[in-house]
Amino acid sequence: MRFSTLTRGLLALTLIASTAAAASLQQITTNFGSNPTNVGFYIYIPASVTANPAVIVAMHYCTGTAQAYFSGTQYATLADQHGFIVIYPNAPTSGGCWDVASTATLTHNAGGDSLGIASMVRYTISTYGADASRIFMTGTSSGAMMTNVLAGSYPDLFVAGAAFSGVPYGCFAGSSAWNSQCATGELIKTAQEWGDEVRAGYPGYTGARPRLQMWHGTVDTTLYYQNLIEENKEWSNVLGVTWTKNNTNTPDPNYTQMIYGDGTKYVAYSAVGVGHTVPVHESAVLDWFGITGSLFPGGGTSTSSTAPTSTTTTAVTSTTSAAAGGTIPKWGQCGGISWTGSGTCAAGSTCTYSNAYYSQCL
Ligand SMILES: *[C@@H]1O[C@H](CO)[C@@H](O)[C@H](O)[C@H]1NC(C)=O
Ligand SMILES: *[C@@H]1O[C@H](CO)[C@@H](O)[C@H](O)[C@H]1NC(C)=O
Repeated sequence: MRFSTLTRGLLALTLIASTAAAASLQQITTNFGSNPTNVGFYIYIPASVTANPAVIVAMHYCTGTAQAYFSGTQYATLADQHGFIVIYPNAPTSGGCWDVASTATLTHNAGGDSLGIASMVRYTISTYGADASRIFMTGTSSGAMMTNVLAGSYPDLFVAGAAFSGVPYGCFAGSSAWNSQCATGELIKTAQEWGDEVRAGYPGYTGARPRLQMWHGTVDTTLYYQNLIEENKEWSNVLGVTWTKNNTNTPDPNYTQMIYGDGTKYVAYSAVGVGHTVPVHESAVLDWFGITGSLFPGGGTSTSSTAPTSTTTTAVTSTTSAAAGGTIPKWGQCGGISWTGSGTCAAGSTCTYSNAYYSQCL
């Protein structure tokens, strides 16, 4: 089909309009519960919010902010389409990293940044009538580490999580700031040791634990790839699943999906040739949360005994191809083999070659 220049112009305008979130990011400054480290509470409530909405807690990387993760990911736009609420916590320290090391943050209701985030979730359930059985979390880098931390210290609050380029729960434990031993992948433990550490985060807890989706690049030189292997050991032990199979080139070329058990509790993605960080794959995350797709209809707890069929693979596709024109937000894909979208990055970012399959706005 041929488009006139005018039609193409209109099409481009429509695409730009549809990628900007319709409502705005608000800060909650009222007392929302215990928040000992003063984590900032930002929330996106779409105009079309559903009754009893699902909630996604979306956590930024070091040096990032709530605002940066709001504008650099597609979750707010997807919230406009699906009616869920997004919480964007803002790290209180000047470096913008989350506290993933203190005993308080690693322990249920004991303090640290994790308690402030837990309070935001509880407040959102009571104030906005959010559905306590559909609370999800995700993050990039430091936010991915915090996803691991919350899965250990608040397994009662979250039903599922997705972590892009993080480290296991407890891996940074005890360090005052950066833990190079963990970051470089030299902190190796057995599955049992990691699992015991997680279980000690909420002693006596016997309820359900969040299903987890992990993503990591094989050439990550900030948080080495070994951290994915350690996460696999940790969570397969905690969730009681063992490795079943690999699906190559899923959801993108050179990504391998590693399925544990029947694929409803733990899945990991290894991205060959990808560094720090793996780009956010929002549509795969939404499928994992059960907001879209057929793996978890309704987004409820992972009690399904139905093993995922081949539809799993087709449901888990990259969202980046949606950006057929217009401006790509920071962290988005802007080039690579089979990329058909625009190569124009949002102001302040440049299209940077990562590998043959991937260039990213950085
Ligand atoms: C696939 O599975 C095996 C387990 O046999 C694992 O050792 C390997 O690292 C996996 N491959 C990839 C690319 O992740
Ligand atoms: C992806 O896989 C293809 C086929 O094995 C290979 O030629 C290519 O170099 C890989 N890309 C990266 C970045 O590893």
